[in-house]
Amino acid sequence: MNNLIIKNAEQVVTCSGFAGKQGREMSDLHVIENGTVIVTDGLISHILKAGETLPVNEQDYRVIDATGKALLPGFIDPHTHFIFGGYREEEFSWRMRGDSYMEIMERGGGIVKTTNATREATEEELMETGRQRLDAMMRLGITTVEGKSGYGLDKDTELKQLRVMHRLNETHPVDIVSTFMGAHAIPAEWQGREEDYIDFNINEMFPLVVKGELAEAVDIFCEKGVFAIAQSRRYLTAAREQGLKIKIHADEITPLRGAELAAELRCLSADHLLQASDEGIRAMAEKGVVATLLPLTAFSLREKYARAREMIDAGCIVALATDFNPGSSFTASVPLLFALACIYMKLTPEEAVTAFTINSAAALGREGITGSIDVGKQGDLVLLQFPSYKFLPYHVGMNIVDKVVKRGKIVCSLH
Ligand code: NIG
Ligand code: FE
Repeated sequence: MNNLIIKNAEQVVTCSGFAGKQGREMSDLHVIENGTVIVTDGLISHILKAGETLPVNEQDYRVIDATGKALLPGFIDPHTHFIFGGYREEEFSWRMRGDSYMEIMERGGGIVKTTNATREATEEELMETGRQRLDAMMRLGITTVEGKSGYGLDKDTELKQLRVMHRLNETHPVDIVSTFMGAHAIPAEWQGREEDYIDFNINEMFPLVVKGELAEAVDIFCEKGVFAIAQSRRYLTAAREQGLKIKIHADEITPLRGAELAAELRCLSADHLLQASDEGIRAMAEKGVVATLLPLTAFSLREKYARAREMIDAGCIVALATDFNPGSSFTASVPLLFALACIYMKLTPEEAVTAFTINSAAALGREGITGSIDVGKQGDLVLLQFPSYKFLPYHVGMNIVDKVVKRGKIVCSLH
């Protein structure tokens, strides 16, 4: 049944208002106290204040009493690489010993190692691990997740990853938004022929992705020793010309002025941004490029966190994501994400909630259908065990989800 009434929530944290909140607007969560939310046929149909009478017949609905609990929009994770073969636990030990992420990549570890394992994995193996990972994310309150290809770096394996995400999207309650990331690394077969590899993506892969409707966006790892600014510009411009949305891994390790490029091209989002310049931050704010920040990656790599405070104060649309992947952030821990965002990146709890709901929806171009509790949007909700959203960063590292609702259906009940 996709008809649901969640009654008397201590807080209904609507996150309503602008789609893609900028700067100070991020602090306003539009909370309704003692509110009730009704989902009819999978869509939010009514939001009631305390004391308002129910405009529907309770018998047609499943009814949940949410006394003492906070209700939020389902969380949206707008940057992950969750379809992959194998693991890289040795690299974690090497990093703890002092090796850098890029050194490990240069000697054949990193993305290339996962690419080999993903090429070897069968589609069914990727389906199985993918499904398990989605289940874990759902238990943490995630109702929409972005997933990138980019561990194939050849035609067949890239398509295999995208097909797996397409199939999972059809069979799993969590919505998956797929991104093509052929330019994640330069595969061994194309070493020294980087421009040709970009051409291959533009001329062969983008048309296949568009024709098969296998991804909505493309992404590129713009980084010293991976893809340069000019190559990124060429790849992203061509993608946009073919009708795809564009995203960029920018200024993660080296300050290459990726944020400036994202603004120039009006990318939907620029992600990581640990080394973004003041100018880049200003340009992104001006052009409305979503700044997707990944504190779990900075934490795992022992890097300095992105300058979230400056970005918000400059008027950027800041979103948060887990970056779940087998290397730089082998975690989808929403509780830790909230804690790090507030404790180390100095977001307020309100800003962090906005960043992982309506702003992360905006980072995917999905702000019209999910990301806030507004009439007409999908009934994607998360009910907490505690009366306030403030417990999300405060109860450090603990999963405080009570129930997860996807299109009006309870898909997860932890109590
Ligand atoms: O977003 N930086 C590039 N890509 C991923 C890491 C992928 C990997 O290490 O396997 C990221 O951190
Ligand atoms: Fe990434």
